[in-house]
Amino acid sequence: MNAFELFNPTKLVFGPDKVQQLGELVKPYGTRVLLVYGGGSIKRSGLYEDVLSQLEGIGASVHELSGIEPNPRLTTVNQGIEICRAENIEFVLAVGGGSVIDAAKAIAAGALYEGDVWDFTVFKAVIQKALPLGTVLTLAATGSEMNGNAVITNWETKQKRAFGSKLVYPKFSILDPKLTYTVPVNQTVNGIVDIMSHVFEQYFSLTTDIPLQERFAESILLTVIENGEIALANGSDYDARANLLLAGTYALNGTLATGVTSDWATHGIEHEVSAIYDIAHGAGLAILFPNWMKYVYKERVGKFVQYAERVWNIDANGKSEEEVALAGIEATRAYFTRIGAPATLGELGINGDQLDRMAEEATQFGPIGNFKKLSKEDVLSILEASL
Ligand code: NZQ
Ligand code: ZN
Repeated sequence: MNAFELFNPTKLVFGPDKVQQLGELVKPYGTRVLLVYGGGSIKRSGLYEDVLSQLEGIGASVHELSGIEPNPRLTTVNQGIEICRAENIEFVLAVGGGSVIDAAKAIAAGALYEGDVWDFTVFKAVIQKALPLGTVLTLAATGSEMNGNAVITNWETKQKRAFGSKLVYPKFSILDPKLTYTVPVNQTVNGIVDIMSHVFEQYFSLTTDIPLQERFAESILLTVIENGEIALANGSDYDARANLLLAGTYALNGTLATGVTSDWATHGIEHEVSAIYDIAHGAGLAILFPNWMKYVYKERVGKFVQYAERVWNIDANGKSEEEVALAGIEATRAYFTRIGAPATLGELGINGDQLDRMAEEATQFGPIGNFKKLSKEDVLSILEASL
């Protein structure tokens, strides 16, 4: 096991109607609030009114930034930064999915930085301070509600880049499973794939003798696989939605990464696809991950055998290690297909025109991944297999 430090300052407030605590949670940070939300799902669900009445209850002066895009854009983030500066905002409140939360993080950091917020994504500057932020999560997927990461797209240059800082962990995140009842089937599928992919990125590691982390990871996968199908069959199943929501948070709140060298190559490749084609992150991962698995499994077949046996219940009797490993990968693809996720880039109308550019961008700072270090040519092979 690797040496590690773990610090997660986000307070999770989990359960039905917990939005009724919002006012009290915001109060210690000030009353000049920027409310950040997306394209309108919170208005349709009635959550918007509940949030406003909580903020009114503490006498907050509320400014709004709506219309955060899925794959949030730098230009929109910059609008939020301007509001923060013009209105002396003290607290940024994100109400929505990962895109809204990520945009709020970039706004919170950018508001107190004199340069271009994009600098944080290209290692030109390190975040020194940020406004405090909190979230009301409406979609189980990214884990952004309890981590210090954000992913922003520069649509002009067609680049999607991440930054991370301990200064942008949400002060609190409210997770009410009932708020995810209205998530449509396709977004529920994208969320399931994203959560599973976060586990894969940390589970497929060359670090050995980490039984606790492995079983944590396997238990999250099994929980998501089972509850994902229940939530897809009945979007208002409280327990299924609750289990998905908590699994999404634990998949990327630092727990699985403790003591482990994680990978993240597939996320890097997916971000290049999204940057050019603006596809849903989970859809891109569903296409790419089984192809990444097939490309790298020989680096440590035993890990893939363990995955096949423990997660997919593959019977190893009479089979070679390689056959078992491949059966686990096929089971992954079959599950994604069964829940309605795409299997090829072609299904999303993407042809091979930009593959070289994507592979080049993904490896611009050098090889990516750790399970197998991927060069530009390796990335290109995975993209070609995904067409
Ligand atoms: O914009 P609205 O109207 O709110 O609709 C959203 C959006 O269209 C809708 N939605 C969300 N909650 C809903 C709902 N619709 C009905 N009922 C609800 N309760 O769902 C759509 C997608 O929302 P989005 O926030 O884009 O989805 P997600 O949470 O999957 O976030 C994706 C973004 O997060 C990044 C991705 O790259 C992508 O940009 N990621 C962030 C990470 C992080 N910060 O740690 C890690 C991830 O790996 C990922 O890269
Ligand atoms: Zn992800």
